[in-house]
Amino acid sequence: MSNGSSPALLDASGRVAFVTGATGGIGQAVVRMMLDAGAQVAATGRRAVPFDDENVLPLTLEVTDENAVSSAVQSCVEKFGRLDYVIHMAGMVGKGRLDEMPLEDWNTVVNTNLTSSFLLLKHAYKHIAKPGGVAVLCGSSNGYNGGSYLSGAAYASSKAALVNLTRYSAKEWAPDGIRVHLISPGPVDTPMLDRLSDDQHEGLKDALPLGHYATADECAGAVLFLCSTHAASMTGTNTNISSGLVLDS
Ligand SMILES: NC(=O)c1ccc[n+]([C@@H]2O[C@H](COP(=O)([O-])OP(=O)(O)OC[C@H]3O[C@@H](n4cnc5c(N)ncnc54)[C@H](OP(=O)(O)O)[C@@H]3O)[C@@H](O)[C@H]2O)c1
Repeated sequence: MSNGSSPALLDASGRVAFVTGATGGIGQAVVRMMLDAGAQVAATGRRAVPFDDENVLPLTLEVTDENAVSSAVQSCVEKFGRLDYVIHMAGMVGKGRLDEMPLEDWNTVVNTNLTSSFLLLKHAYKHIAKPGGVAVLCGSSNGYNGGSYLSGAAYASSKAALVNLTRYSAKEWAPDGIRVHLISPGPVDTPMLDRLSDDQHEGLKDALPLGHYATADECAGAVLFLCSTHAASMTGTNTNISSGLVLDS
């Protein structure tokens, strides 16, 4: 029965988040919101992360490198003493037709989006709070609807595979009290969309029933909700943030 109170979206005081993609649009928004919620944050990117804050441990991380992933998680736990939220927002798009895609490009995109998620979950497991830990991975509307040449087959395939990696780990780790989630954005107004021409932007917006791109803050808000006690009975979910692009999933 409800006690009628309305707690904030996430109270993360005393909690520690490990965030990848913290140099990118969505990852940066997650770091900012986690800090606002009171968390200490290990913020990782290949480039230098744009945070100068005593509650941020900035780390350089190539997410496809297993040893680097393991060391970065270890550094986070050594610095802050615990690990509560693992937020994997690093990712990359491909491009072009399947029949013209070099194997090397396929492997790079799959490794960056899918294999990195496996590596991060694998190396976070030992440290993440049990019970209470939460992992959030990043899919895409391309993972529901097949995508297109704008992001390529490896992107759509790797993002679809994350739906089941999320379900798999959610089942395996539920007895530990660890929850695992996926967010699946449609177009989000971040540097990832800078590759598109004006015509492609126009075509994409026309295809969105709500008529506008999502923002990085909206995606970060969904991540914080999934980490929060509001979502304590949710695991293995796939949150659709596609401005109505995907409605039958
Ligand atoms: N923007 C969209 O329209 C959209 C739509 C659906 C899903 N998504 C997903 O949302 C997530 C975040 O994307 P975003 O929109 O924030 O894009 P973004 O601004 O381009 O950021 C991408 C981030 O991924 C990091 N990254 C890429 N490859 C990496 C690697 N091998 N090792 C470590 N870090 C790597 C980048 O780090 P560096 O910059 O430091 O290299 C950057 O921080 C991605 O998973 C993306 O697929 C985005």
